[in-house]
Amino acid sequence: MKTIRLINELQELLDRSKRDNQTVGFVPTMGFLHEGHLSLVEHARKENDIVVMSIFVNPAQFGPGEDFEAYPRDEQHDAKLASEAGVDILFIPDPDEMYPQDGGIQILPGPQASSLCGATRPGHFDGVLKVVLKLFNIVDPDHSYFGMKDAQQLAIIETFVRDFNLRTKIVRVPTIREEDGLAKSSRNVNLSIEERLVAPAIQKALKIGEELFHQGLQVEEIVEEVANQITSNSPGRIDYVSLLAYPSLLPYTTDAREAIIACAVKFEKTRLIDNIIMSTKG
Ligand code: PAF
Repeated sequence: MKTIRLINELQELLDRSKRDNQTVGFVPTMGFLHEGHLSLVEHARKENDIVVMSIFVNPAQFGPGEDFEAYPRDEQHDAKLASEAGVDILFIPDPDEMYPQDGGIQILPGPQASSLCGATRPGHFDGVLKVVLKLFNIVDPDHSYFGMKDAQQLAIIETFVRDFNLRTKIVRVPTIREEDGLAKSSRNVNLSIEERLVAPAIQKALKIGEELFHQGLQVEEIVEEVANQITSNSPGRIDYVSLLAYPSLLPYTTDAREAIIACAVKFEKTRLIDNIIMSTKG
């Protein structure tokens, strides 16, 4: 595995591979890798000749008072895991080269960014789209791999790629979970021992929501029950619990083919998200 920090060095290397008709699979990350990321690599490895992973804790997607500083980082360990998983090129750009000057150009996502995390983290998805566009332009991947844990991010990126005719194909990869059901996340490390023990309550509550959904309960009743389940079984504070159509993220109506029940829960030092996508046809 080659570790590259300069944009032009990466592009020169990839230009050579593309001249040889090699396909490129891209796994963008913010590092502190876990099995969720490694599963993205596994998919990319099977479907492409070259696998590029980026590690960049993107300041543009963190709001004031969010956990940019506290976001966990461990470059050496990440490099070891990435190499063992079969990454060919690890791209770790320098923040000064990624954002040399702020020209003030903004990318504004549409209505899909108004709900869920977009409602409680204003500007978050503007920052995600900015870095994703830059990374897509730098890497020019055939396929790009995103996890379903960040289902809203994925839906917005799919729309972005479609609306702006970006050439990469987005591949959805299922959420990887701990044995007790907690979705794998780099942020789990910031849970206290006590919080970690009860954090699976999030997924259990969402599963109850899924059951109620299939029993035909009203959206408001389901959302209330899921929120109650989380607050009665953990010290987590609800940031949101929502049930929407997926991937439009518009209010759920019975003609939607898929729905998402999603939540964000705040603990002492971190905020966790999770979701279940529910098919509405049988
Ligand atoms: O999902 C993430 O880790 C980040 O939002 C991404 C896509 C790497 C952009 O910084």
